[in-house]
Amino acid sequence: MKPEVIYRTVGSCDVEVPGPFCLVVFGASGDLTRRKIIPSVYRLYRNRLLPDNFFIVGTARTEMNDSDFRDSMRDAVRTAFPEDFDDNLWLEFTKKIYYIQVDYGEINSYKSLKERLVPLEGRYNTMGNRIFYLAIPPAVYETVILNLGSSGLSKECGGYTHVVIEKPFGRDLESARKLNAVLKRCFKERQIYRMDHYLAKETVQNILVFRFANSIFEPLWNRRYIDHVQITVAETLGVEHRANYYEKAGVIRDMFQNHIFQLLALTAMEPPSVFEADRVRDEKVKVFRSIRPFPLDRLQDYVVVGQYGKGRIADKEVVGYREEHGVSPDSTTPTFAALKVFIDNWRWNGVPFYLRSGKRLSRRKAEISIHYREVPHIMFAKTIRDSIEPNTLVLRVQPDEGISLIVQARTPGSRVCLNRVVMDFTYQKVFFLDAYERVLLDCMQGDQMLFVREDGVELTWALLTPLIEKLESETRPEKFPNYASGSSGPDEAELLLKKDGRVWRAL
Ligand code: BG6
Repeated sequence: MKPEVIYRTVGSCDVEVPGPFCLVVFGASGDLTRRKIIPSVYRLYRNRLLPDNFFIVGTARTEMNDSDFRDSMRDAVRTAFPEDFDDNLWLEFTKKIYYIQVDYGEINSYKSLKERLVPLEGRYNTMGNRIFYLAIPPAVYETVILNLGSSGLSKECGGYTHVVIEKPFGRDLESARKLNAVLKRCFKERQIYRMDHYLAKETVQNILVFRFANSIFEPLWNRRYIDHVQITVAETLGVEHRANYYEKAGVIRDMFQNHIFQLLALTAMEPPSVFEADRVRDEKVKVFRSIRPFPLDRLQDYVVVGQYGKGRIADKEVVGYREEHGVSPDSTTPTFAALKVFIDNWRWNGVPFYLRSGKRLSRRKAEISIHYREVPHIMFAKTIRDSIEPNTLVLRVQPDEGISLIVQARTPGSRVCLNRVVMDFTYQKVFFLDAYERVLLDCMQGDQMLFVREDGVELTWALLTPLIEKLESETRPEKFPNYASGSSGPDEAELLLKKDGRVWRAL
């Protein structure tokens, strides 16, 4: 008999409560566990979105006992929710948290983990459902995955076994393929959850609903009406404490291969026949297959990279990238990139997609803007001086989440004076599941819609690896820094569009 599905209403949201589970977090002493994973599980618990039967086991190399780990997680959750941390609730929650020290490369550690899990699973009646969350440095992914396999922990016995892998998923095509091969030795594709937290943002999930649950946009969503598309993910933050990773990654690996290409796919894909994980992922993959490879001999017409120098953000002086802790003084790592991309298919032939992302820009902003063609004939030519601004539809991912449509209207009282009018929809400040809460719930429910499939990850790397390699071989230290912190990026990025007779939307 199938267990009854329970829904809970939080704010205006109906959320399905998953079945019993055990969550094993590898990398439990790390930053991601403290900042995101445990606070997200706690918030789900506080909102009564978790079943009664679950427990969490943290594992890491650090020597700690259950009580040390619980104390450190209490501090982490308090920091994440300073205003509404509930001591009584924490006392209930904390009893479900355990810790076991492991040596990632030592098979005996996995045997001990199994020995610890089995009685807990009996006590919490979690029906064999296990989630292994790899919040560990990529350098140990393969070791942990292979040991999960060799110890038998990857097998499903009675319930499900899911493995969640954080980005970066490889650093080029070859390493991504290798990682996929290692995963496939131990897990089936349906057990693998490759994370991209952008996909779990409410506003990103809304892209498909907006496109395919409204009949008025779809007929206009193609080359006949659209002049070009812009996708921007701008940050004011710098590299923070992550130079060790970022120096070897750079913005194209960090933001484009995953988040921005996912936004591109959701914007450009065809409607799937049903709203199911694999049908949606099939359509996204078709977009990646249709992206025209970057012409490596004419990259200047398609790609601009930059690195931030010193400047001002929110009225504070900030240092340049090369002065950040852990960054080489002559680093050539890009912190900004703008790319022009073409999708060679029937719908998008000839329509450029301009993508940009950078750190230390003047504003934090993620949005997709659809720029419609100009009107074919301006009948007001005698009465208006300027050209008419074409319509733009803006999907605002963050902050100020919402949708705007920019249209022209007549200024009241004047002869024929046109005015830009913005029709605006803003998400009410209702209950939002945070991206990590969404991802955890979906993984517990076995829904892979918001996770990246093997072919998706390899296709994006296949497109970007030659570009990254070419840029890395050519970028000389003298080129950088080429934009000030707090600006809108390098001047060449403006030129990239100007050459095509277009401009970026203001940040
Ligand atoms: C991460 C990148 O994946 O996304 C970071 O590694 C970036 O460099 C972050 O800052 C941006 O995410 P968000 O949700 O803050 O827009």
